[in-house]
Amino acid sequence: MSNKSSKKPFIVQDKYFQEAKKLGYRARSAFKLIEIQDHFNLIKPNYNVLDIASAPGSFIQIIKKIVWLEAKVVWIDLQKIEKFPQSNIFLLQEDVNNTDKIMEFLNWIWIKQFDLITSDIAPNTTGITWVDQYKSVELNLMIVKLADTFLKKWHNLVLKVFVWEDINDLTSVLKTKYKKISRFKPKSCRDRSFEEYFVCLEKIWN
Ligand SMILES: C[S@@+](CC[C@H](N)C(=O)[O-])C[C@H]1O[C@@H](n2cnc3c(N)ncnc32)[C@H](O)[C@@H]1O
Repeated sequence: MSNKSSKKPFIVQDKYFQEAKKLGYRARSAFKLIEIQDHFNLIKPNYNVLDIASAPGSFIQIIKKIVWLEAKVVWIDLQKIEKFPQSNIFLLQEDVNNTDKIMEFLNWIWIKQFDLITSDIAPNTTGITWVDQYKSVELNLMIVKLADTFLKKWHNLVLKVFVWEDINDLTSVLKTKYKKISRFKPKSCRDRSFEEYFVCLEKIWN
């Protein structure tokens, strides 16, 4: 196998993949957010939503079905994403660690804080579980910092986390900032995957 082909991302072609294709979703992740929404009802029509790590954009496809055109949806990802035609969807191709650039962009579109922040962030995986898990914890700690600034008090944050031994480094921080942390594994996550969603309810300070 050539180097080029061995670098292609591994895509699971299961029933969710097929269904996503059929329904025109950009990724099977759409079903994860649908399950989270069915369970927690976090997205509301009048909410300004920040979606972190959005490429290729299936979370945004679900969010934009629920929010009104008057509400703003902002996405951030390292990668390019195919634009959506709606004028209330704002795209920022950036690293989540670059807080200054994010701040500058949000000032430019006149948003100080969001009603909901969702994140589906996944590090580039090495295949070494504890390394991938810790990279996921570090990225999520960065997102929690962003939410300290950009999420409204009493509002909710959704994180995707690779769960392993060091998870307390993240949960101990979350418990000081949110009233309740609900761990949720959508059925559409692969059984053998160690990813879970942490639904952090009611940010308790600003
Ligand atoms: C599982 S994919 C997200 C799928 C997306 N939620 C959807 O529904 O289409 C994970 C994303 O995390 C992004 N990502 C990883 N590290 C990042 C970083 N430091 N800053 C911004 N995005 C990052 C990747 O570029 C990738 O697009």
